[in-house]
Amino acid sequence: METNFNLDAAIRKVPDFPKKGILFYDITSILANPEAFKYCLDAMEALYRNEQIDAVAAIESRGFVFAAPFADRLGIPLILIRKKGKLPGKTLSKKYQLEYGEAEIEVHPEDVPVGKQVLVVDDLIATGGTLRAATDLIASAGAKVAGLFGVVGLPFLNYRAVLGNIPIKTLIEYH
Ligand code: PRP
Ligand code: MG
Repeated sequence: METNFNLDAAIRKVPDFPKKGILFYDITSILANPEAFKYCLDAMEALYRNEQIDAVAAIESRGFVFAAPFADRLGIPLILIRKKGKLPGKTLSKKYQLEYGEAEIEVHPEDVPVGKQVLVVDDLIATGGTLRAATDLIASAGAKVAGLFGVVGLPFLNYRAVLGNIPIKTLIEYH
């Protein structure tokens, strides 16, 4: 694994998106750069190689992109947490607040291994609202959330206060 890779340089920063005053950290530039994408997957593997993780839960949609190859590398099940109305089977759902309005995510509880350790993976942690809802969903399906992962973290938005004492790991943080 390359240890001195410049991940910051591989992340596109888009000012005033989605609205004025917000600097958007765009991970599509990581995906378009095979060296950067491989660096992220190698780093994720190194972070969790020695932890007891039984399954990966992936957050739609940008979380899917990192979680799927990661679960394959670890050889463990991948659980999709989807936006409302997409999963065909019996679902559990959780509503959460966005800056403006409300969102709802769902999971197939049948896919969640009861009593096992699940790592929840997303691309970016901002307010932590999405990962909070995902954590509640996985817990209500009977598994334990062993950790939370985001490629990018924005800790100035205080996600740690929202996410409590669950271990959180990121590859890069912006302040
Ligand atoms: C973005 C991002 C995270 C979430 C982070 O997803 O990919 O999932 O917001 O924000 P939070 O920590 O404040 O909850 P978005 O809902 O924009 O959808 P997408 O992944 O489908 O693009
Ligand atoms: Mg997302």
